[in-house]
Parts: sequence; structure tokens; C-alpha cells
Amino acid sequence: MAVTGIDTQESVVKAVNKGTLHITEPDLSGLLSQVVQKKSLTAQSTTKKADTFIIAVPTPFKENKVPDLSFVLTAISMITPHLTKDNLVIIESTCPVGTSQEAYKNILNQRPDLKGHIHIAYCPERVLPGRILYELEHNERVIGGLTKVATDKAIQFYEKFVKGNLFPTNAKTAEMCKLIENAYRDTNIAFANELSMVCKAENIAANDVITLANKHPRVNILNPGPGVGGHCLAVDPWFLIHKQPKLTKLIHTARTVNLEKTKWLTQEIYQEIDSLNKKDPRIACFGITYKADIDDIRQSPALQIVQMLSKKYKNILTVDPFADPVQGIHLVTSEEALASADVCIFLVAHKPFKGLIQNNTLKKKLVLDYVNLKLVP
Ligand SMILES: NC(=O)c1ccc[n+]([C@@H]2O[C@H](COP(=O)([O-])OP(=O)(O)OC[C@H]3O[C@@H](n4cnc5c(N)ncnc54)[C@H](O)[C@@H]3O)[C@@H](O)[C@H]2O)c1
Repeated sequence: MAVTGIDTQESVVKAVNKGTLHITEPDLSGLLSQVVQKKSLTAQSTTKKADTFIIAVPTPFKENKVPDLSFVLTAISMITPHLTKDNLVIIESTCPVGTSQEAYKNILNQRPDLKGHIHIAYCPERVLPGRILYELEHNERVIGGLTKVATDKAIQFYEKFVKGNLFPTNAKTAEMCKLIENAYRDTNIAFANELSMVCKAENIAANDVITLANKHPRVNILNPGPGVGGHCLAVDPWFLIHKQPKLTKLIHTARTVNLEKTKWLTQEIYQEIDSLNKKDPRIACFGITYKADIDDIRQSPALQIVQMLSKKYKNILTVDPFADPVQGIHLVTSEEALASADVCIFLVAHKPFKGLIQNNTLKKKLVLDYVNLKLVP
């Protein structure tokens, strides 16, 4: 299969054509350089004719939590002049319900000649960063076309490389399916996060009580954390809330609880630090990404906490072996941070942090472990 990758960022196009990776993802680097060398993948910043078009551009929200579909609609308008009869257009970006239909309308506005001759399908991504290559091939997928023919064509396309089961449906159901998957995860994490705050008020160790509750055969409470980040769980529930505000009270509350958890935890950290009664304490924060072992800082609660701490305290040292430099954040190595910190705050469960238990210096510090690394026994 000959693949052309289109990206509006020149730097991404250049990196891909050189066979170098612009993101952190295990095993992807080798595969990328292999397919670029074979010339089965080339990248460019403009669109061209193809049999199948896949749209996987960002779908963020605007300031007021209104979905921002501008990237999807721009991508649609970029490909429309190149479409020919019987082409298949697949949207993979996470989208509000009805987006595939809107994309079709936009295509017809530009190209009325394509009415009834273009096939649109929605097939959401389900990959976990850090395991993308494996999951892309093995996960089950939901595929919904605007028509039965579009669904069938999209199934035939994914059958070429997906080993997991492919489930046909219609476009609206597929769009909804992705949104409820993420709203479900967000709501369940909110339950754990709310419990952790209740437990603190009751002076009960949240992780211990959750472990005990999970001994019940039909209970499976998730782990609490500093909040919920990333461009999926922290964003997608708003797509449901925006469209059906009166019917999404639980989903809205869950989002609010997860946002509140980050602020609540920051207040807890202030109290812990202030209990040291130390002038200008040196505070080492471990982790700024939105989850462990990846470089992504989008909507990251850990980053928000570090930014809030930086406003209140002068001496913040931040450690993150995965993240790229962030403006206003002073990144140092674990060794540098441990050498001088009075307080060590663990906000992300990166694997390299687990090794710090061997480091005796950790035992002499105030250690605040909010991601269950169990660093100081
Ligand atoms: N990454 C994941 O793990 C994951 C998982 C599930 C769903 N999704 C969904 O997939 C979509 C993309 O996510 P992502 O993390 O890859 O986004 P991203 O922010 O990394 O953006 C992907 C690329 O799209 C490019 N782009 C923007 N507008 C473009 C255009 N008009 N034409 C061509 N390229 C354009 C950007 O330059 C960027 O390189 C989102 O809707 C997201 O919710 C992602």
C-alpha cells in the first residue's frame, strides 16, 4: 500500500521524510525509517488524489468548552478538490455526534457533483500512547458509515491491517461510541478521585480501602490520582455535554470532580509544605506529563500543579525524563533535584521514579506520593 501522510506543520513533514520520529512512541522509530526507506510512506503538506482519505487531526475544545471542529473541517476542505467518484473518506478524530454528516454537507457545498458518489465513514481511534503499534493492529474497532456501502468499504479497508474484530454500525453510533467510552472512563476515575477526598476527610488511607472494596467480586474501583489529563478523557466528555447539556448531569459532575481534584490536591500540598515551617523550601516535583512514561503534557494535572506551586514558592525543581522543556518550568535531573530538595512530590508514576526507592536520600525528605509509587516504606 502506498501511503502519503499530510501534515500542515512543515517540521512534521520534514521529520517523517527523513524517517525520524517527532513524538515518543516505542517501536515506531524503526518502522518509520523502514517504510520511508522503502518509499511506501512519504509526507507532504498539501493534499493529492487517493483512493482512501483518513482524517486524524486534532479536535480540541474552545475556551468555553465548545468543540472546535475547525481542524476537521479544514482537512475536509483541503481534500475536497482532490476527491473523485467512489473515494472513501474516513474520519478517525474524536468528534461530536453528527460530524460525519456535517463533513459530507461541507464536501457537497464545494463539490455538488459528488452527491451520492462519495463514501464517508467514521472509525474512532482507541490506541493507548506507549502501546500504539500493538493496539492499532490488535484492538477491536467500531466502524460506521453514512451509508451501508460506506461502512462495507471502510471495513474492507481496515481488514487489510487490523487483526481485532471490526464491528459495523452507522456513523452516528460510531461517533457516540467513542464519546461514551471516554466519558465512562472519566466518570469512573471521578468516583475514585471523589473517594480519595472523602477518605482524607475521614482520615482513612484511600488506596487501602479501595483495595479492600475491590475484593468484592463485582466492585472494581479505579486508582485515584491528581486529576485527569490528556486530549481524550479531559476533552471528549465536553462534546457530549455541549450537545445535550440537560441530559448529561452525571458526566458534567464527573468532569467537575476531576478538575476540582487537581485544585484540592494543590491545597493539600500547600499544607504539607507549610507544615515544614521552612523559609523558602526547595520543592522537587516529579512528573509533568498527563500520565506515566509518555511525553504528552496536554491538559496535564501534574503540570497544572507544578505551575500553581511555582506561583507560591520560589524554589521549584522539576524532573521529567520524558517531557520536552516547557516555558516557565525549570527541568533538572533526578540527581540534581534529590541532592537539594526538602520536599519530593510525585505526581506521575514514570517507571524511572520507581527506582528512587534505592536512593537513601529520599528517606530524609518529606515525600508526597500521589501516584501510589510507595516510595518510602
Ligand atoms: N493520539 C491518541 O492516542 C488518540 C487516541 C484516540 C483518539 N485520538 C483522536 O485523534 C485525533 C488526533 O489526535 P492526535 O493526538 O494525533 O492529535 P495531534 O494534536 O497530535 O495532531 C495530529 C496532527 O494533525 C496535524 N494537522 C492539523 N490540522 C491539519 C490539517 N488540516 N491537515 C493535515 N494535518 C493537520 C497537526 O499538525 C498534527 O501534527 C483527535 O481527535 C484525538 O482525540 C487520538
